[in-house]
Amino acid sequence: MNIVVIGAQWGDEGKGKIVDYLAEDADLIVRFSGGANAGHTIVSNGETYKLHLIPSGIVYPDKQVVLGTGMVIDPEALFSELETIEKQGINWSNRIRISDRAHIVMPAYKQLDREMDSKRRNPIGTTGRGIGVAYSMKANRDGIRIGDLSDSNFLDTLSKEERSFLDPYMDKLVSMSVNMTYLLEKHKGGKVLFEGAQGILLDLDVGTYPFVSSGYSASAGAALGGGIGPTDIDKVLGVFKAYSTRVGNGPFPSEFLAERDGNLEDVIREIGREYGVTTGRPRRCGYLDLVALRYACLTNSITSLVMTHIDVYDDMDEIKVCTDYEIDGEITREFPSTAAKLNRAKPVLKTFKGWKTDLSSIKEYDKLPQEAKTYIQYIEEYTSTPAGIISVGYERKQTMMRIPLWTE
Ligand code: IMP
Repeated sequence: MNIVVIGAQWGDEGKGKIVDYLAEDADLIVRFSGGANAGHTIVSNGETYKLHLIPSGIVYPDKQVVLGTGMVIDPEALFSELETIEKQGINWSNRIRISDRAHIVMPAYKQLDREMDSKRRNPIGTTGRGIGVAYSMKANRDGIRIGDLSDSNFLDTLSKEERSFLDPYMDKLVSMSVNMTYLLEKHKGGKVLFEGAQGILLDLDVGTYPFVSSGYSASAGAALGGGIGPTDIDKVLGVFKAYSTRVGNGPFPSEFLAERDGNLEDVIREIGREYGVTTGRPRRCGYLDLVALRYACLTNSITSLVMTHIDVYDDMDEIKVCTDYEIDGEITREFPSTAAKLNRAKPVLKTFKGWKTDLSSIKEYDKLPQEAKTYIQYIEEYTSTPAGIISVGYERKQTMMRIPLWTE
């Protein structure tokens, strides 16, 4: 069975924790998109792991992980991350494979990434990790792929600087490289987890273009970037937070506003620890946007939602969600395709009673306070999608599975 886990908002929904939780039963974990722009935090047995390139399954001692075709890989960042997790006691040797079709991020790309952003008509607020440049090189058919490193004719075309950067990593990268199609063929009938990066609203095609990343965050990317065909995807889990966050620039219709919401943004940011794992930037925060979440369900064939961070709302008297947009005097539930229109969207908010209960130690859905269940049920009905997993904290064990996953 092939299960895809994607972020259903603007990233940072808690995918890392959910993949880590589900990885226990998986045979193989494949990351299918993005690069060192991503940041996944995993808390296990009191230890915190911050991953950028390596799939979350690495924390288990016996799991195999793959950096997929859709990824762009900075060798310097990869080996520094491996060094860090090794110091944290993780033995990764022989457990990491890299698609021979994945592209390499070269040092010059990072500088160029920042320069290009500062010159854009509308700067995006890129993480500056060279991601956009690597994907541009790929689309321009001038990129360097992992598989190229074992081709001496190709290596001869590289400049001196490029060679001296790549040389220290070359043997290690070549020994880790794999043709994914045949690796995945061997795992047919097994339990494979496909881990997305960022969130679907940062996807190049379905996201809030141009304020997006350059890879595929949508579930369709799991096929191309993960080494399988689209009909081999069995389930798609869309992870979302009980509220919304966004890092970097771009439209955010349900963003908290001081004049309307007082200091709610500061409160949520502190309780939810809403600071970027990769850049440390404070995340912009807002109400849960159901117009956007429904759009995420539609564009990604999400079969089950995964709600995280619901505990962040534990002390609130009331909780609001955005149910509609008002755009130029019209009320709509359709998510517009242009940033200009999204910027004009005013959220229509619906208020729910808070539960005023500490949810962090609740282990079963039935034990949740009625107010929390009412909030969850409303989201399920609005999106016509069940919420199969509810997460009430950072730890692996603070997770409630409502719908069994690895069954037909
Ligand atoms: P880039 O991918 O570094 O070019 O950044 C493009 C946009 O996506 C910027 O607004 C970033 O803040 C945002 N972004 C990239 N990766 C992540 C992520 O993993 N979480 C949240 N936002 C991200």
